[in-house]
Amino acid sequence: MTDPLKLSMRGLVKRFGGVVALDSVDFELRRGEVMALVGDNGAGKSTLIKTLAGAHMPDEGVMEIDGAPVRFTSPQDAWNRGVATIFQELALAGKMTIADNIFLGREIVRKVAGIPFLDRREMHRRSKELLERLDVVVPDIHTWVEYLSGGQRQGVAIARALNIDAEVIVMDEPTAALAVAEVRKVLEFIKALRRQGKSVVLISHNVQDVMEVSDRITVLRRGRRIGLLETANTTPEEVVGYITGAALAQKQQLEQA
Ligand SMILES: Nc1ncnc2c1ncn2[C@@H]1O[C@H](COP(=O)(O)OP(=O)(O)OP(=O)(O)O)[C@@H](O)[C@H]1O
Ligand SMILES: [Mg+2]
Repeated sequence: MTDPLKLSMRGLVKRFGGVVALDSVDFELRRGEVMALVGDNGAGKSTLIKTLAGAHMPDEGVMEIDGAPVRFTSPQDAWNRGVATIFQELALAGKMTIADNIFLGREIVRKVAGIPFLDRREMHRRSKELLERLDVVVPDIHTWVEYLSGGQRQGVAIARALNIDAEVIVMDEPTAALAVAEVRKVLEFIKALRRQGKSVVLISHNVQDVMEVSDRITVLRRGRRIGLLETANTTPEEVVGYITGAALAQKQQLEQA
């Protein structure tokens, strides 16, 4: 054991009718760790993180945060416990400014002579601060989000997660639709989150990205965890072997941390 566990899931089962999307899966995440979550199409990655995000209720299994059992019955529950999930669709409002998106649902209100006003100046100031912390460069904080590039939008979504003081940030394929330079930027955001002591779950099909930013790698295959690898002690070929199931035939090395 090294760093304390920020989050753990044990014996997670999720069925959709006859389909067993998660078949008694264990998952863990340390404080200040980037955990990659990989696996073939339909392996159960999105189902796992939707459970983590409170969007799905597991049929069986337990989840703990900081050693205490938790049970999320809604995304709001997860949010309140510091778990922010950035879905691939991002859920940002295109026709709103960057700052409005970062503060969506938790606007700062100031009362003047008893009448509440949105404190736009303060929200802009804090938005700028958050973006600077992540080294996100945007043309202007008043820009509508729909005019931003994919990478900039990822930055805004991460800033929004930081704004709710999320300790765990889950990202589903954040680089899938991005150009090379933008991918670099998002990988840098992820590293910045780790430097701030946050825990990150990164779903990616890109093994190169996974090798670059992750500390460990969880491999799912057909609803089961078939690998828990230390990135520094693993080659990209091995990771691909696990994803395709080739490695499974050779060795059932499941490192229990
Ligand atoms: N809402 C649902 N209803 C029925 N079946 C579902 C539902 N969500 C997921 N599944 C099934 O559960 C299994 C796991 O799906 P999941 O989306 O978690 O895979 P994934 O690893 O995210 O794949 P991909 O890489 O393609 O996104 C698949 O067989 C899928 O068809
Ligand atoms: Mg998926």
